[in-house]
This record gives sequence, C-alpha cells and structure tokens, in this order.
Amino acid sequence: MRTLEKKLNEKLTEIFENLNLDTDAAYVKRSDRPDLSDFQCNGALALAKTMKCPPRQIAESILQKLQNDPDIESVSVDGPGFLNIKLKNDFISKTLNEMACDENLGCEKVESPKKIVMDFGGPNVAKALHVGHLRSAVIGESLRRIMCFLGHNVISDVHFGDWGTPMGMILSQILEEDGDFSKVDTYNIDDISAIYKRANARCKEDEKSAEKARLITSELQNGNAEYQKAWKRLREVSVEAVKENYDELSAHFDLWLGESDAHPVCQQVVDIAQKEGLSEVDDGATIIRLPQANKPMPPVILVKSDGGFGYQLTDIATIKMRYDDLKADQIIYVVDKRQSLHFEQVFQVAEMLKLAPNTILKHVGFGTVNGADGKPFKTRDGGVMNLKDLISLSKEKVRLSMPKPGEVEGYGEPEIEKLIFEVAMAAIKFQDLKSNVGSGYIFDLEDFAKFEGKTGPYIQYAVARINSILRKAALNGIEDGEIIIHADDERSLALKIADFENTVIRAAEIYEPSIIADYVYNLAQIFSSFYNTCPILSEPDHALLVSRLRLARLTRDVLKCSLYLLGIEAPEKMLKSN
Ligand code: ARG
Repeated sequence: MRTLEKKLNEKLTEIFENLNLDTDAAYVKRSDRPDLSDFQCNGALALAKTMKCPPRQIAESILQKLQNDPDIESVSVDGPGFLNIKLKNDFISKTLNEMACDENLGCEKVESPKKIVMDFGGPNVAKALHVGHLRSAVIGESLRRIMCFLGHNVISDVHFGDWGTPMGMILSQILEEDGDFSKVDTYNIDDISAIYKRANARCKEDEKSAEKARLITSELQNGNAEYQKAWKRLREVSVEAVKENYDELSAHFDLWLGESDAHPVCQQVVDIAQKEGLSEVDDGATIIRLPQANKPMPPVILVKSDGGFGYQLTDIATIKMRYDDLKADQIIYVVDKRQSLHFEQVFQVAEMLKLAPNTILKHVGFGTVNGADGKPFKTRDGGVMNLKDLISLSKEKVRLSMPKPGEVEGYGEPEIEKLIFEVAMAAIKFQDLKSNVGSGYIFDLEDFAKFEGKTGPYIQYAVARINSILRKAALNGIEDGEIIIHADDERSLALKIADFENTVIRAAEIYEPSIIADYVYNLAQIFSSFYNTCPILSEPDHALLVSRLRLARLTRDVLKCSLYLLGIEAPEKMLKSN
C-alpha cells in the first residue's frame, strides 16, 4: 500500500510530467506550519533557477492542476513559491483504513534490497561488558532491526576482539602465575578478567613484561600450538559470558566471528599492497602512506616491526572477507566516534587496494555516555560501570514503583520480575536512543526510569493503556470499524500515524534511531490529547465509537512496532504501586 506522502508524490509526479517539469523535484514533506497545511512542496523553488522562471509562476501552474484533485481540500502558493497542501479528511481516513489492514503498517519494503553487514558490539576477550559497550549494542541492534524491517538482507557480526596484544598479556600472566596452562580449563570469566587486570597493570609498569607479552602475541598469531590451545579456552569462556550480556540486551548476532578469523586474510592483504607497490617498509614496519587531503592522515601500519598484525590490518582484511564471502553491498560499523580516524584510514586503504569495489563503507560513530560530572560514566566508587551493574541499578529504580509479588492478581514473583526487567531495559535503551547518535549524553539517574516525560516506560504505559481499552471493547463484543475523521484531534492523530513509514525511512537514511524515538514520544502525546477530547467506549454514536477504536488500535500497533525497532519490549499490561 501507499501512504499519504507517497500518494501525494505520485500525484505531483504526474502533474510535473504534464507540465514538462523535472520530476526529481516532485515531492512533498510534512508541513512546518500544520496550522496552514498538511504537506508542503518546494519543487518550484528548486526548479526556478535552471528554468529561469520566477518560482511563484511555476508554483501557480502546479496549483492549477492540483486544485482539481478530489483528494485535495485546498492548496495555496505562499512566500517565494511554496505550495501548501491540505488534504481532504476522506483521503486521510481511506489511507488509514488501508494501513489498518496492512501487516507492515504501510511500510513498503525497499525495491532493491541490499546485503548489509552490520559490525557492532565489538567486545573483547576477558573484559566484561561495560557501559562503553552499551551504545554499540543498543544503537547497532536498533539499526539492524530498522534495516531488516525495510526489507534489506542484514547480517550482524559481533567482531570479537580476540587477537591483539591483550591475548599475549593474559597468556604471559598465566605463565607467570601458574608456571603453565594446566589451570586454564578451570578459569571462569571473573578469573580471566582479574588475570587481565593484573597483566595490564604489570605491563604498564614494566617494559620487559610488556615486551614478553608482545612476543607471546606474535607467537600465538604464528600458530604456537600450546598458546593456541589456552587461547581457545579463554575465548570460549569470554564468548559465553558476552552472549549472556547480549541476550539480556536482546542484541542479535548472526555471526560470532572475531578478529582472529581475519588472520589468514591479513597476509593476503599485505601481499596485494606489496604487489601494487603501495606499501613501504619504515623502521621495520610495513606501512601504507595515505594521500593528505584536507587534514593530515597518518600512515596505516599493516605489519608492526615485531612482525605482528595490528588492529588496522585486521579491519582491512575483514572488509575483504565480507566482500568475498558475504558479498556485502554495504558494511555499517557502529563504533565509538573516537575511532573515526581509524575507520577513515581503514576505508581508504580498502579503496586503494580495491578490496571491496562498490561496497559502501559507513562508520556510525557514537558519543560517550557521561556521568553528571560530564566525564565518562562511573560507579559510585569511581570504578568502571559494568553493564550488569547498570541493569541492576535500573531494575532497582523500577522496582520502587512496582507492586510487590502477589499484590496484583496474576502477578507472582516471576511475572513481576519479568515486567521489572522489561521496563528497566526500556528505560536504559530509550534514554540512549533518544539523543542523537553522534552526541554523547549524561546518564540521568534521576529521571530515566520515570513513568512520565520522554522515557521508555512512558511509551510502554501508552501502549498498555490502549491495550486495556481494546480488552474492554473485546469483552463487550465491540469490533473496530471504518475510520471516519471529524474532530481536529482525530485528524492530527491520523496524520501522525500516517507518518510512520516516512519516519522509519528517514531514520534508516541517516542512521539515526532518535528519529523514531522522537516520533514514538510525539505519537503517544498526540494520542493522549485525542483520548482526552474524543471518548471511545463511552461514545454514543456507534460509527464514531468503532472508528475511534480502530484509530486506537492502529496507534497501539504503530507504537509497538516503533518500540520493537528501538529494541524495546511492549508489555501487554503495566503496573504501578500505590
Ligand atoms: N574491540 C574494539 C574495541 O574494544 C571495537 C571493535 C569495533 N569494530 C571494529 N570492526 N573495529 O575498541
């Protein structure tokens, strides 16, 4: 089905064709002045220059044709040549009735789906996930769902950090402490993290230990069997731990590949660079110098002077694999924006070596989660905030506003716990997704889990409230029916609902889930005003009642689907303690 915006664009395209105007300019956007119009077309302004014709004159000729359209209530030319378009109520309600029967809520699948590889998560062996990993998982999962929803073929890959110097540091620390690897099988994730912490401290203090760790890393990478066996075990334990974390966040990964999996391809990349004459040896290291465009670009180190392959080469080789094996049309990296330079360099080398011709490489860089002091978010005692701690903290906050198990019928301990978890995750995720990806945000410990304001729980409430109306209607045997639009609040709600497809498309275009977060919040508010002025079940006119019931159901479905796209669950019922 076509939503309002697409239907209008089709009408305009036909008119533009008839008038011999460039149809690239034949599109509308939602009006900035909803008091004057529903949609606006600025095509005349765009065409005026090339046509050497005053924009108002072009706009007038479009107006002449549009005026006669039975779906248009009114159209005017304003300012330098904007077309302001107001739609007939029937046109809006007809489209919404179509939307109500459409399983994708009016969102059409893209015409040519792309194979998109999504690289997010990026956890490391031996490190518990901390608050720094939150954004990658939450934004990454949301973008993954958005791209899938639009019909793309998405493959998510966690790109496990399992191959760098930290590996050598841990192995070397185990040798130092245990003498051999006989105890490795007994270590759990906490043991391994503690070993890594001690290793890190020792290597920082003592250059000799650091040197040893580097040596072991390169022996591991070159296939030393003893190191490989111990490393495999460390990796396994870490993957298991991290999987639990990602399950809690409901972040889905199709592939659990790691940096180590790119190792065999790294040498191929080095060979290609050499053959193309693009690499050179500098101080024992093999590097590629990059063209200096508008800012200084440091060279990329392919092979370090000790023979080891580094982070940059791993990412370059991974691009080649994703092109060769997965046939990626696009690779999206959701990684901290402090790694922007890394990705610029990596993308440039991939291009120079023609490793993935025509593949679009995109780094979606996010800002940091900060504490109230504006510095990276820490625990109360100044330590790194683990994801687990953050989730507990949010759950404790939510628990305060929930009834105790047994206080509400049907809600024993497991049901209450499930609800608390879903609300707590909504609070964390929505707070993260409501701000722009690129800007950091201050983790608001006071308000993020509140049931009012721009929060996840507020939207969950809005859904649950509509669910309860729908349940009551069902109990009374009332089914929803044709939408008819009379009141202003019905009209505003309908127009907002119709905006859903466009919202999702815009969010995908600029990799910005916050567009959906804004939308879902506005929709919940608009529904609230509608519900205040337009009674549903107590409405005496039956036709109006069933129409409003359908509007309510459609609102609920769009809210739920939007929350899904943000990675947020919508519980059927919400509870509040007295
Ligand atoms: N493991 C890396 C880190 O902790 C992040 C990986 C990001 N993804 C990538 N393809 N480089 O910094």
